[in-house]
Amino acid sequence: MRIIMLSYLGGIQMAFKEVQCPTCGEIIPISGISGEVKKIICPRCKTIGKVTFTVNRNMEDSAITVSNLSKTYGNIIAVNKVSFSVKKGEIFAFLGPNGAGKTTTVEMIEFIRTPTEGDIKILGVNIKNNFNQIKEHIGILPQEFKSFERFTVRETLTYFSQLYKKQSNIEEIIDAMDLRSHEKILYRNLSGGLKQRVGVAISLVNDPDIIFLDEPTTGLDPKARREVWQVISNLRNRGKTVFLTTHYMEEAEHLADHIAIIHKGKIIAEGSLSNLIEQYGEKTTLYIKNVQNNDALEKLREKRFNVNKVGNGDLMIKIDHHDKVLEVLSELRHECIDYESIDIRRSNLEEVFLRLTGARLTEEEP
Ligand SMILES: Nc1ncnc2c1ncn2[C@@H]1O[C@H](COP(=O)(O)OP(=O)(O)OP(=O)(O)O)[C@@H](O)[C@H]1O
Ligand SMILES: [Mg+2]
Repeated sequence: MRIIMLSYLGGIQMAFKEVQCPTCGEIIPISGISGEVKKIICPRCKTIGKVTFTVNRNMEDSAITVSNLSKTYGNIIAVNKVSFSVKKGEIFAFLGPNGAGKTTTVEMIEFIRTPTEGDIKILGVNIKNNFNQIKEHIGILPQEFKSFERFTVRETLTYFSQLYKKQSNIEEIIDAMDLRSHEKILYRNLSGGLKQRVGVAISLVNDPDIIFLDEPTTGLDPKARREVWQVISNLRNRGKTVFLTTHYMEEAEHLADHIAIIHKGKIIAEGSLSNLIEQYGEKTTLYIKNVQNNDALEKLREKRFNVNKVGNGDLMIKIDHHDKVLEVLSELRHECIDYESIDIRRSNLEEVFLRLTGARLTEEEP
């Protein structure tokens, strides 16, 4: 049996396509949802294949378009034929575990690494022969960024701004990044969170349209992470496009308009948070604590709720959509079922990732 990977750009909702079997040439009609990977069997020769319904977004609004991009290091395929686009003005999260290929991809877009194959367009321009023109429009915060230890925050920003033709007003950046009270402090004496904020500030010195942030909050405590999130969110409010790589699902959930999940060099799903959860997430679960009535389980089952007993006197109900919570509540009241409290648990990206790969996002790659 052969597994065929076919890929095409479909519509953002339901897409219809005819694909050709590479073994016998049979034309096979197939439909699917953007981001879905569907298994197909050729009706003539029974070859088994997979069709990836890549998300096709309005190209007119595209800040970055990546087509069929790959990078190999000897036998290692770091990035394997990835295609995606980033819309102007959005926060695009490239989410994946350690070693997934995030930095390799982003550094090819930043012209730091040379692709093995594929094309990259930034603001409609192919970067291959035009990077000098493009570099004025982008700002970069590299992974594990470090700056000059003995420069103050202000000196650091002044130094980096002189590398570009177009320069932002440094005073504005200092205020926007909330660095005013730290402007005279040496970089080496700043906390981790402040160093990252300086890193984001440096990426703004040429007043770029697109900002690449590679793991901007790794190693930060929760408070510092939230402060950096606020800074990133402010960039979107100022009309910037942000390409964010992260292995923190909460970061993608909190910030991103669009999320592409990368695993072992391939994009395995993409869409908005609600798209991804709807397509791949678990059902919403209601935990009803300390139910007083002995016949509550039977009564709810009679009404066709997917209900089970958990723990000592608690019930768990799985619902297709969070709108159904009200139906459950009214049934509890109607049947005079007493309980202590209700917890509602929605699916998250961790579950989406687990469902797609069988692994946890936070686990180290083997
Ligand atoms: N210069 C290189 N030479 C050989 N292999 C490399 C090189 N750079 C990256 N790789 C390999 O390519 C794969 C992808 O690495 P990459 O750094 O892009 O992952 P990542 O998703 O950014 O991971 P992390 O979350 O740890 O930063 C890994 O298996 C890595 O070991
Ligand atoms: Mg990386």
